[in-house]
Amino acid sequence: MLTNDYVQMEGTDMKTYLVTGGAGFIGSNFIHYILDKYGNNVRVINVDLLTYAGNLGNLSDVEDRPEYSFVKADICDSDAISAVFDKYDIDYVVHFAAESHVDRSIRNPEVFARTNVLGTLNMLNCARNAWQDGDGFRKGVRFLHVSTDEVYGSLADEGEYFYETTPYDPHSPYSASKASSDFMVKAYVDTYGFPAVITNCSNNYGPFQFPEKLIPLMINNALEGRKLPVYGDGKNVRDWLYVMDHAKAIDMVLEKGRIGEKYNIGGHNEKQNIEIVRIIIDTIKEMLPDDDKRQKYINYDLITYVEDRKGHDRRYAIAPDKIRSEIGWEPETMFAEGIRLTIRWYFEHTEWMRQVTSGDYQKYYEEMYK
Ligand code: NAD
Ligand code: TYD
Repeated sequence: MLTNDYVQMEGTDMKTYLVTGGAGFIGSNFIHYILDKYGNNVRVINVDLLTYAGNLGNLSDVEDRPEYSFVKADICDSDAISAVFDKYDIDYVVHFAAESHVDRSIRNPEVFARTNVLGTLNMLNCARNAWQDGDGFRKGVRFLHVSTDEVYGSLADEGEYFYETTPYDPHSPYSASKASSDFMVKAYVDTYGFPAVITNCSNNYGPFQFPEKLIPLMINNALEGRKLPVYGDGKNVRDWLYVMDHAKAIDMVLEKGRIGEKYNIGGHNEKQNIEIVRIIIDTIKEMLPDDDKRQKYINYDLITYVEDRKGHDRRYAIAPDKIRSEIGWEPETMFAEGIRLTIRWYFEHTEWMRQVTSGDYQKYYEEMYK
């Protein structure tokens, strides 16, 4: 049934995307990906509240394009979101907007419940109202809910993987809020036949990532000669995926995914945190000219083991079998290449880093790492 749908959709008309959280890390990369791929055969409406994590500077190179519009709005605000659906004829919702940092969720869980659970519920309601057509929904519309592998909890040290059938077992307030939002999406599919799909992705890295997350924080600190704070024993494992590979996966799931299904996205690229930190140090040193003064202070002595994160999940690892066999997606960027692209981007965007680390970031950093 869906295959026929897609045959009809392909190459016919232009799609209008409502991207929530498009000023954040993955959302802004996704908007670049979609505008590059579809050119003027697409419309993108970016709805973002511009919290500390949202930065319109991430989209400065596309802001004047006629295919792109920005609306500053809270995903919890039903009037504002309904107005977006009224104004634009939305075909696809790609829902990224969320509070996304585990450490912040440990300190302040409430905003995670509000944005991630109630915000998603409001997005579902507004889309449902806008897309209702008789007893069903307008043909061809899709709601893609972007979620995380953290909903599955934590794996033993080796050999186990997260599958789409793995029971949810979230531990942090962040992962609990994302799990709740996933269940809400599923409830809309099961109750109303709402045309949604869910993707659960592993840890992303790449350009435009806010330096509260491991990789950009370590790159920025190393370049500034600051300590590199590694939680606990540094042996927690994450499965790293280059952000543009994630963007491509989302595009493919929108086009080929089956309604009501969930798809794990990841790349069998598991690494311990301490390995990541060492790779960052080695790669920065390799990429800097020999006579750069930073060569003197960037070395393993910067690594500092600090108090462990509360409830720290030990290991995440995705089995991407379903998305590979059903959708035909595979990760393309090897970590050695992705980390070089990422470090190069941060070398070339010192002003971006200066802006996002001024003001509130300093306060956050001092409180978090004191
Ligand atoms: P991010 O923190 O960089 O960006 C979040 C964006 O959402 C920001 O632009 C922010 O301004 C916006 N936002 C926050 N609250 C809002 C609200 N109430 N209304 C409107 N906009 C609001 O996050 P990210 O790392 O780009 O993650 C995007 C999505 O992908 C999230 O749903 C996250 O759970 C999921 N995810 C992230 C990763 C990862 O490694 N970063 C991995 C898997 C899944
Ligand atoms: P993070 O980038 O916050 O992603 P997540 O917690 O969603 O996986 O953290 C990745 C890993 O790096 C995680 O195991 C915690 C660890 N970590 C540190 O050791 N030091 C740090 O300063 C940060 C931010 C994270």
